[in-house]
Amino acid sequence: EIEVGLRPRNLSEYIGQEKAKNNLEIYIKAALERREALDHVLLYGPPGLGKTTLASIIANEMGVNIRITSGPAIEKAGDLAAILTNLSEHDILFIDEIHRMSRTVEEILYPAMEDYALDIIIGKGPAAKSIRIDLPKFTLIGATTRAGLLTAPLRDRFGVISRLELYTVEEIKEIVKRSAGLLDVEIDDEGAAEIASRSRGTPRIANRFLKRVRDFAQVKYDGKIDYKVAADALKSMEVDELGLDIIDSRMIKTMIENFGGGPVGLDTLAATIGEEPNTIEDVYEPYLLQLGFISRTPRGRIATKAAYDHFDIPFAE
Ligand code: ADE
Repeated sequence: EIEVGLRPRNLSEYIGQEKAKNNLEIYIKAALERREALDHVLLYGPPGLGKTTLASIIANEMGVNIRITSGPAIEKAGDLAAILTNLSEHDILFIDEIHRMSRTVEEILYPAMEDYALDIIIGKGPAAKSIRIDLPKFTLIGATTRAGLLTAPLRDRFGVISRLELYTVEEIKEIVKRSAGLLDVEIDDEGAAEIASRSRGTPRIANRFLKRVRDFAQVKYDGKIDYKVAADALKSMEVDELGLDIIDSRMIKTMIENFGGGPVGLDTLAATIGEEPNTIEDVYEPYLLQLGFISRTPRGRIATKAAYDHFDIPFAE
């Protein structure tokens, strides 16, 4: 992982996500005082907001080890059983993209989460019998883009369900300044603001842009990042002033030009622009909703006046 050096290691260094952070701080303190494992935590929200980072911070604050894996990486029930039996007391198991686990793997998780136990079937046919193996008391942290992608029985087994939101421009600006300090590159307020306003409320994008802007600063300028350097670099990277890319603009323009501004259903829109409905919902829509460029109605998505204005298309009432 490229940005590992930029990741905060404890809650006090972690910028933004105040709601999730404040609640987690209490649950961590309470579990530590009772000398218990933290209850299972589900983190959901758009990609790039720091779910893995937050899981590592929780492990750090709890003073335990973290084992990191992902739903698609766990192929067989035995893979998960091996991971679970190798955990130590109160350890954290982080499963990214937990909604992409297979049903058979998911079923291993139920007794593991509920009773810290593994039910294993020995033998076949009438002679088969089930034995139960005790597991260490552990904490499962699951990450997904939408809580609704999980099956109800899995979702119900999380004691803490925490939604991560897109960051505000101000929060991203703070993150950019912190990262610049760690990368040892000078940046002024306007330079940080320019990167922040084009980063779609997403730290992963902001840190990636910061590194590329630093390259421009070093090669084309005097090494320092100000407004001019940031704007020039980001323009060369074809990022518009709001951080919209080709797919965002295709989506908005399609809504306006092909569907009269909507309402248009998600599947229809997805088929028209050639993207997956899930990708639109998880990756593109959250930022367009935050900008107020689209809104969701029971009959589908509509493009707002702000969207028409941004793309210089006349808006008829
Ligand atoms: N780097 C990435 N995400 C961060 C965050 N939320 N706070 C501080 N630094 C970060």
